[in-house]
Amino acid sequence: MSPHLLVTGGAGFIGSNFVHHVLAHTDARVTVLDKLTYASSAASLDGLPEGRVRLVEGDVADAALVEELVAPLTGEGDAIVHYAAESHNDNSLADPSPFLHTNFTGTFTLLEAARRHGTRYHHISTDEVYGDLALDDPERFTETTAYNPSSPYSATKAGSDLLVRAWVRSFGVQATLSNCSNNYGPRQHVEKFIPRQITNLIDGIRPRLYGMGENVRDWIHADDHSSAVLTILEKGRIGETYLIGADGEKSNKEVVELILQQMGREADDFDHVTDRPGHDLRYAIDSTKLRTELGWTPSYPDFEAGLAATVDWYRGNEAWWRGQKAATEAKYAKAGQ
Ligand code: NAD
Ligand code: DAU
Repeated sequence: MSPHLLVTGGAGFIGSNFVHHVLAHTDARVTVLDKLTYASSAASLDGLPEGRVRLVEGDVADAALVEELVAPLTGEGDAIVHYAAESHNDNSLADPSPFLHTNFTGTFTLLEAARRHGTRYHHISTDEVYGDLALDDPERFTETTAYNPSSPYSATKAGSDLLVRAWVRSFGVQATLSNCSNNYGPRQHVEKFIPRQITNLIDGIRPRLYGMGENVRDWIHADDHSSAVLTILEKGRIGETYLIGADGEKSNKEVVELILQQMGREADDFDHVTDRPGHDLRYAIDSTKLRTELGWTPSYPDFEAGLAATVDWYRGNEAWWRGQKAATEAKYAKAGQ
């Protein structure tokens, strides 16, 4: 019998990428549990092999539904892979409440089901749990960096990570964790930095840089995140945390300049707008443990090439993102961004 994975948040940006990756590279069957919030797109699961993927609309904090979906995961290689989250920092500043529900209570609900049934569990998290670094800090985040989250989003992700660690230690839950840096690639909601600027330019709007644009993010292609998660599922040691990153540090200003150049515009054709409150300055991942212990390497080491392919994807797939755009920009306009 082929392995059966329960992928929560599989209709979102990175979760859907993982579903495509798993179906292309393994013989696993996938059940997606997704609440289909504003951030999701069922179309992101289009074109997958029939009979190997099933979409269940529902909430990861719904204990009865989670019980129904986790109980059958008893075979060799079966696992829960937990991507579902409220994921956007700016939204968490406007209203933290759904972040507590989904990120914290949702994780608790899944962990309790994994505990009852002895189910293998992989927890998807973020480098933001570590807070931020100075621009000139020679150190990067490692698995032993102290937690120091800044936003309601990152605080709820940090809390969910700590629940997983406690459930491993106290109840013997068979879990692994990964903390990844900023993802880019196709099918990312237009509220996020890179797709927002690409789709702004398609619409004739100048890109919007928060503050001076000196903040640094460590970019990784979503396909590389997926291959790393699959590697951890197959080879990771239970109870361990693995940091996922592809050495992709760039300031926001550099990224906007690259997008402008790739879309045939002048490099200074952008606007500075109101900065994000509490805006983390720099993230940077040291992924040595994942590379040396599990033998993982990224397949998209060239950020500029990956970005150009992403620009092409948004140009060619307007039907996928057009429905999100007006409401997203209306929300940003209210915040002066
Ligand atoms: P996303 O916002 O694109 O997708 C989240 C998905 O979760 C959506 O399909 C949404 O409908 C679903 N969801 C939300 N609440 C739910 C609930 N209560 N029950 C069931 N489904 C629910 O997010 P993303 O960017 O794809 O992030 C996925 C995961 O990866 C998150 O856990 C996030 O913290 C983590 N992560 C993201 C990044 C990044 O750069 N985007 C980097 C590192 C880690
Ligand atoms: O580091 C991993 C995290 O990356 C994930 O955990 C989050 O889920 C994901 O949303 C992302 O968080 P960021 O806050 O870094 O991503 P965002 O796309 O919102 O912003 C990236 C940077 O760009 C950040 O410094 C803020 C800035 N920005 C963002 C927008 C939307 C702008 O300058 N202008 C913008 O219009």
